[in-house]
Amino acid sequence: MNPSQEKAWAAHAPRLVVEVPRGDRSTSIRPDAGVDWSATFGREAPLMIEIGSGRGEALAALAAAHPEANVVAFEVFQPAVASTLSLLTRRDIGNVRIVLADGAQGLRRLVRPAELAQLWTFFPDPWHKARHHKRRLVDPGFAALAASRLAPGGHWRLATDWEDYALAMREVLDAAPGLTPAPGADADGWAPRYADRPVTKYEARGAGAGRTIHDLDYVRTDDPVDAPAADADDVGAGAGEPVGDLVHRTPLAHPLGQDPL
Ligand SMILES: C[S@@+](CC[C@H](N)C(=O)[O-])C[C@H]1O[C@@H](n2cnc3c(N)ncnc32)[C@H](O)[C@@H]1O
Repeated sequence: MNPSQEKAWAAHAPRLVVEVPRGDRSTSIRPDAGVDWSATFGREAPLMIEIGSGRGEALAALAAAHPEANVVAFEVFQPAVASTLSLLTRRDIGNVRIVLADGAQGLRRLVRPAELAQLWTFFPDPWHKARHHKRRLVDPGFAALAASRLAPGGHWRLATDWEDYALAMREVLDAAPGLTPAPGADADGWAPRYADRPVTKYEARGAGAGRTIHDLDYVRTDDPVDAPAADADDVGAGAGEPVGDLVHRTPLAHPLGQDPL
């Protein structure tokens, strides 16, 4: 972390970063961990979660647009979380808490079935090479896990500037139990841009390079959904091996260092 991030961390992490029991890696969460979010926020409120919040640009805007919600972010890169702490404090946004941990494990271990009003995954690491696709956050196991955590009527909103990942997301979510596309899609099946979502650095970079930004919006149906069975160590997204495993190997290292782009 740079000096200003160090300073922000020291000043604000004790209040805004939720400590969780760790597993065997720095960004993993012990299987028996749990958080009472109403107690953590000191109020009963709809729970909304962003996974991979980066520097917090979208998180801050979304939390400000939803003062009625308890907003939780999972992010594995500590310097980005420190920058987020500065942003939230500068904007005086009080309804956010951050967990420095793998979001797939967080969703599985720290969120109860049907507890979630909204889930946001914006510009997740694309992992371009075919042999790295298994590291992508959005896969069938993660989709089933996400569906199991959403309350009926809850939304999972996604965005990406990478066409092949967008199409893969559509395929995965269309096939996922308990999820259905939200009404309002365009003729090609893409959701309208989520009005509360600001343009982040990642979106600007993608658009600047001429890539189309695709939004997806799926709603949790009333059908029962079981979370997929975890593997032995319960590592990574959903049922599979993917992104989390790699993120965990280097303590608090940024996955960008592993060339997801
Ligand atoms: C491409 S950035 C996008 C950041 C932000 N959503 C935005 O739109 O500006 C992806 C972020 O996801 C984080 N990330 C990747 N895998 C993660 C995981 N399993 N759990 C939590 N965060 C993760 C990365 O550290 C990075 O900050």
